[in-house]
Amino acid sequence: VPLVAPVPVAPAGARQLNLRMRPRRNRADAWTRRLVAENRLTTDDLILPVFALDGENRREPVASMPGVERLSLDLLVAYVAEAVDLGIPAVALFPVTPSELKTEDGREATNPDNLMCRTIRTLKSQFPDLGLVGDVALDPYTSHGHDGLMHNGVILNDESVEVLVAQALAQADAGIDILAPSDMMDGRIGAIRDALDGQGHQLVRICSYAAKYASGFYGPFRDAVNSGGFLKGDKRTYQMDPANTDEALREVALDLQEGADMVMVKPGMPYLDIVSRVKQTFAVPTFVYQVSGEYAMLKAACANGWLDNDKVVLESLLAFKRAGADAILTYFAIEAARMLRDRA
Ligand code: PBG
Repeated sequence: VPLVAPVPVAPAGARQLNLRMRPRRNRADAWTRRLVAENRLTTDDLILPVFALDGENRREPVASMPGVERLSLDLLVAYVAEAVDLGIPAVALFPVTPSELKTEDGREATNPDNLMCRTIRTLKSQFPDLGLVGDVALDPYTSHGHDGLMHNGVILNDESVEVLVAQALAQADAGIDILAPSDMMDGRIGAIRDALDGQGHQLVRICSYAAKYASGFYGPFRDAVNSGGFLKGDKRTYQMDPANTDEALREVALDLQEGADMVMVKPGMPYLDIVSRVKQTFAVPTFVYQVSGEYAMLKAACANGWLDNDKVVLESLLAFKRAGADAILTYFAIEAARMLRDRA
């Protein structure tokens, strides 16, 4: 039986290798490539992070994140409507807290009428079928920019958990669907789960930022939420050391024991090994956050014409699927969803 090689081979008469296996056969046509594709990115995988501003008719670009804007609620509703129309399943909410509301104890975090809770109520009433993800951490609200309470330069754990629980309950009462504690305090998942269940919020899900690293890639986000300038020191006593992998597995194991429904790895692209190991070890819903610095890097290179935007956006997101992620928080969600729609 002659071997039919659809791959362009050497011209007749040229010397041919005697190869039984030619992996290029499975790449020879678009239809073959579609059949053998092992991973696929769909709009169902995407979560769009958004930044909410106080006031009305306000739109502020984030300088270090071209294409990303902070929006007052009226404009945010229109923006989120676009995400809903594209079929994006959920948005992650980040409020921009005015400087005058930031305090040493971050008490605005627990105010049932704070910008976060108002945003939740507005979006829930406008888009009842859209999933809302709420960040739980004190950094937008503290005058020192830390995710927990600080005393004499030390970030307190158990005292912080108490405030985080109150913050979580305020968001749950406002109608949040998924609470996403990003603070990295010990024991906060169990404490939040117990409090939710005690208040009749059994169906509010918890997606823990289980493996969150003390990363340099969060810089543009801190600009966006107006916390960067406030931050005293760094977050290395609670966020993880980028040197560690086993520790990520211990963090994930603890959060699952404490009742996390989904776990998150953050940042994304530099931590694909962690995504892969977490998914393979625990086989639970594993989310990944392609963070602000990753977005900024790609956008900067594309703006210079050094990279092809559409290619690298989809390729970077597909890499998360290959590593084992179930869902991806990404500032590219809307443009990726558009590309996926136009390609279908
Ligand atoms: C707050 C929080 C941060 C991010 C999400 N939630 C910043 C931080 O921990 O300093 C970063 C997201 C991004 O960079 O896109 N705890």
